[in-house]
Amino acid sequence: MRTILVDIGPLAHLSGDGPLSGLALTDEESLISHGKGIVIERNVITKIGNSEEVIEEYGLPNTKLNELASINSHEDRVVSLEGRSVVPGLVDAHSHIIWAGDRSREVRWKLDGKSYSEIASMGGGIVSTVNQTRSSSDFELFQLGKGRIESAFSSGTTHIESKSGYGLNLETELRLLEVSKKLSLCSDLPSIDHTWLGAHAIPDGMAHKDYFESLISEQLPAICEQGIARSTDVFCEPGWFTVEESEEILRESRNSGLNLRLHIDEFCDGGGGDLAAEMKVDSADHAHYTNDEARAKMNDAGVNTGFLPGTPYSMGKEWPDFNKMIDDDLIWSIATDFNPNNQILSIPFLSSLLVSRCGVDPLATLVCSTRNPAETTPHPSGLKHGRIEVGAVANLNILDSQNWESWCTRPSHSPFLGTVIEGKYIAH
Ligand code: NIG
Ligand code: FE
Repeated sequence: MRTILVDIGPLAHLSGDGPLSGLALTDEESLISHGKGIVIERNVITKIGNSEEVIEEYGLPNTKLNELASINSHEDRVVSLEGRSVVPGLVDAHSHIIWAGDRSREVRWKLDGKSYSEIASMGGGIVSTVNQTRSSSDFELFQLGKGRIESAFSSGTTHIESKSGYGLNLETELRLLEVSKKLSLCSDLPSIDHTWLGAHAIPDGMAHKDYFESLISEQLPAICEQGIARSTDVFCEPGWFTVEESEEILRESRNSGLNLRLHIDEFCDGGGGDLAAEMKVDSADHAHYTNDEARAKMNDAGVNTGFLPGTPYSMGKEWPDFNKMIDDDLIWSIATDFNPNNQILSIPFLSSLLVSRCGVDPLATLVCSTRNPAETTPHPSGLKHGRIEVGAVANLNILDSQNWESWCTRPSHSPFLGTVIEGKYIAH
C-alpha cells in the first residue's frame, strides 16, 4: 500500500546534499517546485514527478486528505492536496524536554533586571529545576516529555534533539536519558536524538572541581557503557564551564566515541567559538555574542552555528544579526532550546519572529529549520531528512494554505493541516 499525494501547490523540497548558506538560502527557483506528486512507500519517498504523470501511473484521487489517517486498506491511496503547499518535516536540533518543575516566578525577577546568574544565585535557574527533576518519578518525567513532543509535533516538528542536564548526578542523568530513549519508542511522534549534558551546571552541595571530575570519571563512562547518548554537550560559558574544562570533556567524549555539540557565548563572548572550531563540534549553539573572526573559523571548520532565538525572546533581549550570517555566507540553523526558562516548542513561531522582527527571508528561515539542522542530527533510520526528495524519510508538513510563505505567518497556532511522519499521515 502506497500513499500518493497529487495536485501539490508549491513544494518546498529543499533537496540536495549538505547544508546551504548565503544566497542559496533564498533561491526559490532551485528549492521550490510546483504541480508535483509524491509517492510514499512505507517510510520512504520513492518518487516525485509531475502531478499528471503520477496520476497517469497510479490513478485518479480515491481518498480525501481527512480520511487518510483513518483508512486502513491495502490499495494505493491517491490524495489530491488541491494546490496546498508542502514543506519538509521540521528539525529541532536543540532542546531540553525532560525536566520537572515550574520557574515561572522568575519572570518578574527578569523584569526587575536580574541577570541569569543573579537569578541562579537567588535559588532559581538550572539548579532549582534539578531539585524538582530529581524528586520526580520516571513515569512523571515520561508524561511531561511526551506532552512536550506532542506539542512540538502539532507545530510540524518531526525530529528533535533532546538533552539531559537536569539530573547533574549519575543516577538522574542516566534516568533522563532512559526516559528520552523510551519517548523515542513512541510511534507517530518525532524521532529523538539523545545528548548527554551532564556539564550543564554545578549541583548544590558539590564543589565545582569535584563535580567536574565526576563528569569524566563517573558519568561519561556510564553513559558510554549504556550506549544511551549519541553526543555530548557542554554549557561553555564564563561562570559555568570554562573553555579548558569544556575542551577536556569534549576530548574525553570524542575518545569514547561520542559526537560533540556546545552551548557557547550565550551571555558574552567567552571564547567558546574558537574551541568549537578547534574541536570541530557538529553544532555550536546560542553563539549570540561570538565575534566575527570566531564565526568564520567555526564555518571553515565545518561547524554549524545553531541560533536559539526563543532564548533572547524569553530573556527580554535582542537577537543576533541573522542577515549578516547570510551576507557572510556562513552556515547556520535555528532551534527552539525549549527549557524551563524558555518554553517555546513551535518552530513556526521562531520563524515568524525571524521574519517579522529581524527581517530574515522566509525561505532562509525554512532551510535553517529543516535541511541545515538535519545535517547535525541524523535521522535514526539512517535516511536523509529535512528535505523532500527520493530516498529521504517521508516526513513532510501539509500547509493549510496554497502559499509556502504561510509557514511563518501563524505564530499563535499551527500553520499545518497535518504531517506525514515516517510515511503516516496525522491530522493536527
Ligand atoms: O540552553 N544555557 C544553558 N542551558 C539552557 C537553559 C537552562 C535553564 O535555564 O534551565 C539554555 O538556554
Ligand atoms: Fe540549551
